Amino acid sequence: METKIVAIEGTDAPESIREKLTEAGNIIKRGGLVAFPTETVYGLGGDALNPESARKIYAAKGRPSDNPLIVHVSNMDDLRKIVKDIPPKAEELARMYWPGPLTMVFEKTDLVPHETTGGLDTVAVRMPLHALANLFIGFAGGFVAAPSANLSGRPSPTLAKHVIQDLDGRIDMIIDSRGADIGIESTIVDVTHKIPVILRPGNITQGMMARLIGDVDMDVTVFDGDSAQAPRAPGMKYRHYAPKGELVVVEGAPEKVAAYINKQAALHEAAGERTGVISTEEQLQKYKASSIKNAGSRVDTMIIAKQLYTFLREFDDENIAHIYSECFSNSFGDKGYGQAVMNRLLKAAGHKVIKV
Ligand code: TXA
Ligand code: MG
Repeated sequence: METKIVAIEGTDAPESIREKLTEAGNIIKRGGLVAFPTETVYGLGGDALNPESARKIYAAKGRPSDNPLIVHVSNMDDLRKIVKDIPPKAEELARMYWPGPLTMVFEKTDLVPHETTGGLDTVAVRMPLHALANLFIGFAGGFVAAPSANLSGRPSPTLAKHVIQDLDGRIDMIIDSRGADIGIESTIVDVTHKIPVILRPGNITQGMMARLIGDVDMDVTVFDGDSAQAPRAPGMKYRHYAPKGELVVVEGAPEKVAAYINKQAALHEAAGERTGVISTEEQLQKYKASSIKNAGSRVDTMIIAKQLYTFLREFDDENIAHIYSECFSNSFGDKGYGQAVMNRLLKAAGHKVIKV
């Protein structure tokens, strides 16, 4: 299949944007697939109400079909058509954080086919903040099922070029535009329980939600690599992304972390194995290795979140055999954004952590 790549700039004339989005929307309405930017990561969109579109999404990504899709809407009226009930806490979260990087899991209505929800009677819904994404959903009929626009097992794409690497030739259209400034996927919270449960941490943190609606739980499997329990977000059970190189997270006092990583890097490099480091800006000058990535200041989690997936893709392109990363939160108990970053990092590392 030939994939049409359509660039849209904020400076384009409104008629031109409308024309391109009409074409993109019509592809979705006819059962095709279009990748588009959101504020979190690029999504691979299809008609959420068309079972055939869900099948195509799974096929294009090479993704198991028991892994449910997030339905993207652009307004509350459309939400009401696809969910049985909006609990008061969900109303409050929506009022505060929608449109935005928050996905909520509700009981679904019959309008949503089981193909979209991986057989579940619940549906995950998100209203993106990204202006183009929001418009596109309208042009596409209002209900766009969209997983991250990567091949299964690759990191979520934060740039159009990542989408092109993974999906060129497999889908109808890729919208190339700005976005994905957050860089990791939305927070997922299941609001069907009396105490809502976070199934995937993200930019809207446990602390932010708790301040608004009281207690919010974290699914036990989010940080526990050995948990015998199945995660409640089916997608979280899959080993998300393993870089080609072995990734290890090193935890401890900054001086000790740098000393340990340098010692390992020297051994690997001496053996002819290229080594990469994900470093905070504060430690950057301390490392000697083939590839050193600047994750920004220790005190600003936004920067590492935005770049983490790009770094992982770059290490693969650079043939890095061993990757060491510093930790980006001192404790998992702080209920802040560090939780989301560490969740993605630990998953990519297969939970390999060395304490020094
Ligand atoms: O930021 C995002 O959420 C991006 C952009 C494109 O919006 N989308 C995204 O989708 O990350 P995806 O498919 O890569 O991840 C969806 C996650 C999976 O872990 C899936 O298991 C979970 O959401 N999920 C979807 N529906 C669910 C449901 N009904 N119950 C529990 N988990 C659900
Ligand atoms: Mg994904």
